[in-house]
Amino acid sequence: MTNHALPSYLNADDLGPWGQYLKQIDRVTPHLGGLSRWVETLKRPKRILVVDVPIERDDGTIAHYEGYRVQHNMSRGPGKGGVRFHQDVTLSEVMALSAWMTVKNAAVNVPYGGAKGGIRVDPKTLSKGELQRLTRRYTSEISLIIGPTKDIPAPDVNTNEQVMAWMMDSYAMIEGNLSTGVVTGKPISMGGSLGRREATGRGVFVTGREAAAKRGVAIQGARIAIQGFGNVGGIAANMFADAGAKIIAVQDHTGTVVHQGGLNVAELHKHVAETGGVAGFAGAEATQDRDSFWGIESDILVPAALEQQITAKNAGQIRTKIILEGANGPTTPEADDILNEKDILIVPDVLCNAGGVTVSYFEWVQDFSSFFWSEEEINARLTRIMQDAFNSVWEVSQEKKVSLRTATFILACTRVLAAREVRGLYP
Ligand SMILES: NC(=O)c1ccc[n+]([C@@H]2O[C@H](COP(=O)([O-])OP(=O)(O)OC[C@H]3O[C@@H](n4cnc5c(N)ncnc54)[C@H](O)[C@@H]3O)[C@@H](O)[C@H]2O)c1
Repeated sequence: MTNHALPSYLNADDLGPWGQYLKQIDRVTPHLGGLSRWVETLKRPKRILVVDVPIERDDGTIAHYEGYRVQHNMSRGPGKGGVRFHQDVTLSEVMALSAWMTVKNAAVNVPYGGAKGGIRVDPKTLSKGELQRLTRRYTSEISLIIGPTKDIPAPDVNTNEQVMAWMMDSYAMIEGNLSTGVVTGKPISMGGSLGRREATGRGVFVTGREAAAKRGVAIQGARIAIQGFGNVGGIAANMFADAGAKIIAVQDHTGTVVHQGGLNVAELHKHVAETGGVAGFAGAEATQDRDSFWGIESDILVPAALEQQITAKNAGQIRTKIILEGANGPTTPEADDILNEKDILIVPDVLCNAGGVTVSYFEWVQDFSSFFWSEEEINARLTRIMQDAFNSVWEVSQEKKVSLRTATFILACTRVLAAREVRGLYP
């Protein structure tokens, strides 16, 4: 890897997801022409806030959690990116996720920079009251740097509409005014947008349909394997099943279920709602151990759980035609090379899962104007943006003979650095 000037707060021997992002930047740099003189700007976040989040537990003890908000780049607009509650959240992870937001927002050309937040906590260990206190205290700690024109959080892993409603309410209490546009992914009753909940999964489906057309794969009857059955994977499963595809395997944190004839997706959702995971689903004909999931033959594979799932260790086993990265950062650069070598078409996260932030953008616009659009209008605009973005990326990949990932980075980083250049350095 290029010798990056690494910040002292990261461990150079174990850079984690941030190292993965830096390698991606190295791959795009030769394609940036004169703008490459600004590329260092992409290799360091603009601003990092690390906060202590103390709460009183229901049993009267005091617990402290580590919270983050990272604003990677704001050359093209205010920060935008989700908030993750997970026990494995680290600074390196939040930095990488914030940087991928910069790239993603530029790839679909919404007027935002990139940001991300998180708390290092397993929310399943908290009661609803504790979760609310945690969310409110975290919001107050990061309220210094967020706001409708500064940085706009949204849901990510283990956060949802309820968490966004608490964040908005806490911010409103602090500011003394009701600023619905401070977060997106809110409940519809409170300034949320129709179609937001389904938007990321819908974007995965739309870009998947485009990729399938390029590869000559018919969606009708296509065999699809999905890792992660939450907001992204669960909705993508619905849409592919509705379009006539067969969801042959699903893995989540509880296990893997397989049915070559196609799992009944509606029944699987019911089972997950009742039991908390896919394990034990009666409609499966088989279960698999965690690792052999990657060896299941499919036409389309959708990693929609966490980052660094497809690695040099399991990439060789993968037998599919198209990979749709619903999750952020699911494929390491080493695995990327192996899959490209096998001629598997990868629709990268920074394009594939951009549907969520696109409808978040619609939500923010609706909040500012207090005028709300119909679901048909939202879905139609989302579909058009995702199709256009896919086709622009496809053209760049053909022209430069690079992967869709590098092509997306070329398009996006050019937009970000052109904005940086035209604004100039302050002061
Ligand atoms: N929600 C959004 O709008 C959105 C937008 C863009 C990208 N993403 C990305 O998509 C991914 C999933 O987010 P989400 O919102 O669906 O989260 P979620 O919390 O709704 O669901 C996460 C899913 O992943 C599964 N999972 C967790 N750990 C796992 C493991 N070790 N092995 C297998 N499965 C595991 C969980 O069981 C669950 O089914 C994340 O990478 C997130 O950053 C989400």
